[in-house]
Amino acid sequence: PAPSVPAAAEAVRPAPPPTRPPDVVPQLPSALLQELAAIGDLESLRARLDSFDGCALKATAMNTVFGVGPADADLMIIGEAPGEQEDRQGVPFVGPSGNLLNLMLNAIGFAREQVYVTNTIFWRPPGNRTPTPLEVQSCTPFLHCQINLVQPKVLLLVGGAAAKSLLQRTEGIMRLRGRWFDVSVDSATAPIPAIATLHPAYLLRSPAQKREAWQDLQFVRDRLNGEAV
Ligand code: URA
Repeated sequence: PAPSVPAAAEAVRPAPPPTRPPDVVPQLPSALLQELAAIGDLESLRARLDSFDGCALKATAMNTVFGVGPADADLMIIGEAPGEQEDRQGVPFVGPSGNLLNLMLNAIGFAREQVYVTNTIFWRPPGNRTPTPLEVQSCTPFLHCQINLVQPKVLLLVGGAAAKSLLQRTEGIMRLRGRWFDVSVDSATAPIPAIATLHPAYLLRSPAQKREAWQDLQFVRDRLNGEAV
């Protein structure tokens, strides 16, 4: 028979290893943040993103998908992540979601060319999977810098991923949409009014929800027209 373990030996047995801690998102290097804070225009920011290797998605993507639109746009739209078409063309919202987004903008009197459009991350996740918190976090300084350079009057966050990331909230999109929040990306500038709405990709699958999106877009239109909402 196996020798029984004396009580004293039991007492000194090493403790089991602690359970693995949750993934810790590393602090962003402050050198990068300082460097971005000194960037004064979107072209320079884009060039810096081209040489940035802090997001692993860059290795699997075909193109970097940086924001497009006027540098002084009143309205800035932030989506989740580039899809297949966006990855091929290097331009945000050019696939089926983009076509619907353009129609939504037209409905409130905007041409797509008048609006600055970007995403929370700048490379397509393989197979369009949801970006990880780490991937989002590594791209966030570049998104914040775009917001700071454009200084839009209103931010429209499309989909839960953009809403949660920019608003730093955990509720789902159905709770976050249709309400005004203040987004502050830089303590030196005034917070920017932001509203979330349903993602066009979701609306393509659930057209009955277009009603809610239409309501949210009317809030945007009224706010930009200076009407109290
Ligand atoms: N969906 C997004 O969130 N962004 C794009 O650029 C395209 C599809």
